[in-house]
Amino acid sequence: MKSAEIRQKFLDFFEGKNHKVVSSAPIVQKNDPTLMFTNAGMNQFKDIFLGNRDSEARRVADTQKCLRVSGKHNDLEEVGFDTYHHTMFEMLGNWSFGDYFKKEAINWAFELLTKEYKLPEKDLYATVFEGDESEGLAPDSEALDHWKKLLPEQQILMGNKRDNFWEMGDAGPCGPSSEIHIDVRTEEEKRKVPGRELVNQGHPQVIEIWNLVFIQFNRRTDGKLENLPEKHVDTGMGFERLCMVMQGKTSSYDSDVFTPLIRHLEQRFGKKYGADKMVDVAMRVVADHIRAISFTIADGQLPSNTGAGYVIRRILRRAVRYGYRYLGAEEPFLFELCEVLASQFSDVFPELAKQKDFIEKVIKEEEQSFLKTLAVGTKLFNQYVEKRHEKMIEGVFAFELYDTFGFPIDLTRLMAIEAGKDVDEKGFEAKLEEQKSRSRTASAKEETDWVVLNDQRSNEFVGYDVLAAPVSILRYRKLRQKNKEFYQLVLDQTPFYPEGGGQVGDTGVISSNGYSLPIRNTYRENELIVHEVDQLPENPEQKFTAIVDEPKRLDTAGHHSATHLLHQALRSILGTHVQQRGSLVTHNYLRFDFSHFNKVTNEELRQVEQFVNEKVRANLPLQEERAVPVEEAKQRGAMALFGEKYGETVRVITFGDSVELCGGIHVGYTGRIGLFRIRSESAVAAGVRRIEAVASRYAEAWMYNKEDELASAYIAMKNPQKLIPALENLQNENKTLQEQLAVLQKEKAGTLREMLEKQVKPLHGNYRIICEKLEGADVDAVKDLVFELKNKLKDTVILLGAGTEGKANLWLAIPDELVKEKSLDAGNIIREIAREIKGGGGGQPVFATAGGKDPEGVDRALAQGREMVGGD
Ligand code: SER
Repeated sequence: MKSAEIRQKFLDFFEGKNHKVVSSAPIVQKNDPTLMFTNAGMNQFKDIFLGNRDSEARRVADTQKCLRVSGKHNDLEEVGFDTYHHTMFEMLGNWSFGDYFKKEAINWAFELLTKEYKLPEKDLYATVFEGDESEGLAPDSEALDHWKKLLPEQQILMGNKRDNFWEMGDAGPCGPSSEIHIDVRTEEEKRKVPGRELVNQGHPQVIEIWNLVFIQFNRRTDGKLENLPEKHVDTGMGFERLCMVMQGKTSSYDSDVFTPLIRHLEQRFGKKYGADKMVDVAMRVVADHIRAISFTIADGQLPSNTGAGYVIRRILRRAVRYGYRYLGAEEPFLFELCEVLASQFSDVFPELAKQKDFIEKVIKEEEQSFLKTLAVGTKLFNQYVEKRHEKMIEGVFAFELYDTFGFPIDLTRLMAIEAGKDVDEKGFEAKLEEQKSRSRTASAKEETDWVVLNDQRSNEFVGYDVLAAPVSILRYRKLRQKNKEFYQLVLDQTPFYPEGGGQVGDTGVISSNGYSLPIRNTYRENELIVHEVDQLPENPEQKFTAIVDEPKRLDTAGHHSATHLLHQALRSILGTHVQQRGSLVTHNYLRFDFSHFNKVTNEELRQVEQFVNEKVRANLPLQEERAVPVEEAKQRGAMALFGEKYGETVRVITFGDSVELCGGIHVGYTGRIGLFRIRSESAVAAGVRRIEAVASRYAEAWMYNKEDELASAYIAMKNPQKLIPALENLQNENKTLQEQLAVLQKEKAGTLREMLEKQVKPLHGNYRIICEKLEGADVDAVKDLVFELKNKLKDTVILLGAGTEGKANLWLAIPDELVKEKSLDAGNIIREIAREIKGGGGGQPVFATAGGKDPEGVDRALAQGREMVGGD
C-alpha cells in the first residue's frame, strides 16, 4: 500500500464509525502561550477537553502536522541517528469528546490494525497504565480488561507514569494511556528474544505505533490533577512509522514517505544510501529536516533570531551542517528538495505546492548566509580543538561560535562529539544569560490557575454589533511579568476585539455605578478571550458594563480596511504572486508584509497609493457576511492566509472587488478611511517586503509633518524661489570652498614649516632643538608637520605648543638616537609637562602629544620640556 492509501484508509475507517474528518491545524501555534508548534494532534482540541468550548462534532478524525523540537516533547537530537524518530511527522488521530471511551477506542484500533491493515496479531503488544501512588491513581483495569479480550496476556504489559500517562505539557489536559507497539524483527530474532522484553527499550524494530490516551484530568499549574467535566479519547498514530510497517521495512526512511527525498540526495551528491554510516545519518537528517523547515515556513514562520523562528533556523543549520560535512555540500542544496516535497504532498497539504517558489527562496538565502560563516567557524573550531588538549570545550568559546558565527549550541555539541570532546554547556548558558539580561525586553509570564466564578462556557464576542455591553466575570487569574502583577479576566460576553488577524486588541473600561477599571489589552488564549487589567475590581461577582474606547476603535477599523485595499492594490499592480506574510493594524499605523522579490519602485508605490485612494473616494460600502461556508468563500476568490485555521464557516469582508476572509473590524464605507499614505517600503527577509502606511487623520498628520519640514527648509535657505536649485547651489559653493581651503591650508603649513626650520637652536652635543609657541594652528596639520620635520631634521628635538581660548596643545618629537643615548621618553615627558596646561597626554618614546584646558601654561610647559630633554 502506498502511503497516500494508508492515510486515506485511516480516515475512511473512522468516517465509517461516524467520525467527522477535519483538516490539520497549522503546525505553527498562534494562540497558545504554552506552545510554539503543534506537538500533538490534540492541541487544536485542547479547549474542548478543558470544557472551554463545545465541539462541532462528538467524534473527529484527522491527520495532523506535528513538530517535536522544543519543550516537553523534543526528539531533535535523535533524528538521523536512529531510523524511526522525526522532527516533523503526521499524526493520525481519532477523538471522542465526551462520547465513546476506552472500550471503543481499543476495539477500533485493534480492528483497524488487524482487519484493515492486516498486521499480524502476534506481533502486536499493548501497554496499560499500572497506576501511580504519588498521584493517587489506580491501575487502569478497565483498559486491561478490554485488551485481555483481544490479545493473549503475554502481549499485554503494564507501564509506569513515564510511559503510560500522557501529558501535553507542564499543565493542561492529560490522562492514562494505552500504547500499541509492534515487533517487526525477523522470525529468527523473535524466537531468540521475545518481543515482550523489548517493548519500550529503545529497540528500533520493536516500536510504538499508536498511543490511545484517555483524557480525564487537567494538570494545574500547581502540579495537582483535577477531574475534567467529561471523559475524552485522544489517539495518535505515527503515520511514518505505520507506513514503514505496512511496507515491510525496518526503517521509516525506507518507506515511500522518505525515499523520494533520499533518491534525490543520492543523485545530487553521487553517493549511495546504505553504504556509509555517516552519509546515511546525514541523508536522514536532511530528509527529515527539510520537511520540518518547509512545513513551518508554509504555515507562516520564517527563520529568525528569536523564538519559533530561531528553532527553525537551528533545524535548518543542523541540516546544512550535515550536508556540508558528510555529503560535501558547499553550495545551497536543501531548497532543491522543496520541489520533491511539494509534489509528494500536493493532495493532502497543497500549501507547499502553492508557495513553493517562496519557500525555496527563503531556504536558499538562509543556506547561503549560513554556509558563509560555517566554513570560517569550522576552521576556528578545528584550530581550537587541536591547540587544546582538555576534554572540555569552554563555554566562552561555544558562545563565540554562537554569537559570531551563528552556530546553535546543538551544532557545537555535535562537532564536539565528533571530535571526542564535551562542551561546557553551563558556561555557555551563563554567557547567553548574560547577553540576554543585557537586552531583555519582555520576560516570560508566570501565571496562577484560574479562579472560576461561573463555569458557563460562552465568552462570545459581540463587538461587531455593539461597543458596550452588560457583562459578568466568568473567571480570572493573576499573572506576573517583569515583577509586575496584573490580572486576566474572562467575561460571559465581550464587545472587546481580541488581538487577531494583525489587528491589535481593544482597550477601554469595565464600569459599574461610577466605578471604572481600565482594560489595557484584549487577546485570545486558545479559545478564551482574555482582558488584561492591572487590578481586580473589588467585587468581581457583580455586573459590569464593558465599554470599548470608541475613537481608537474607529481609527483602527480605518487602518484595517485600508490594509485590505492595500493588499488588493499590491496584487493588482505588482502581480498575484503577492501574498500576505504578516500584518499589524493599530489605531495610528499599519504594517503589511508580503512576498515579492524586488524592491517596490517609487513609481509603483505611487500607483499603489493612488489605487487605494481611488477606492476611498469611491466610498465603497462594507459587505460583511458572518457565516459563509469556507469552500464557497474560497470559490468566490476570497483571500485566505496560509497558516490560519479556518472553521467550516467563515466571515467574509467585501469592499467592491476586495474580498477577504477576515475576523477584524472595518469601516462601514471606505470613505471613512479619508486618506491613505505610504510612509516607507523596506525588506524584512528573503523575498518578503514591508510597507508601512497611515490612514485618515494620521495620514494628515504625517503630511503636515512633511510640509513643516519643507517649510523649515525654505526658511533655513532664506526663502528661495525654488528650493532644489538653491540647495544644489549651496552644495556646489561648499565644495569649491572646501577645495580652496585645502589649498590654503597646505600653503600655510608650508610657510609654518619654513618659519620653524629657521628657529633651529643648538641643544647639547650634536643635537639641536626647535621650541616654539604657535598661534592659531590647526591641530591635525601640526601633527603632520611635526612628523615631516622629525624625518627631515634627524638631530633635532621638536617641542611645540599652541593655545587658544580654553584649549592648549603640546607636541614633542625626540630623535631616535637621543632617546637611546639618554633613555628619554617623550610620552613620560609630555605627561609631566601637560600638568602645566591642566591636561594629560601620552604616546611613544619618540613622539607624544598632549591636550589641556589652560593656554596660559603653554610657555611654562615648553620651558620645562626643554629642560627635560637636556636643554638649559
Ligand atoms: N496525545 C497523544 C500523543 O501525542 C495521542 O494523540 O501521543
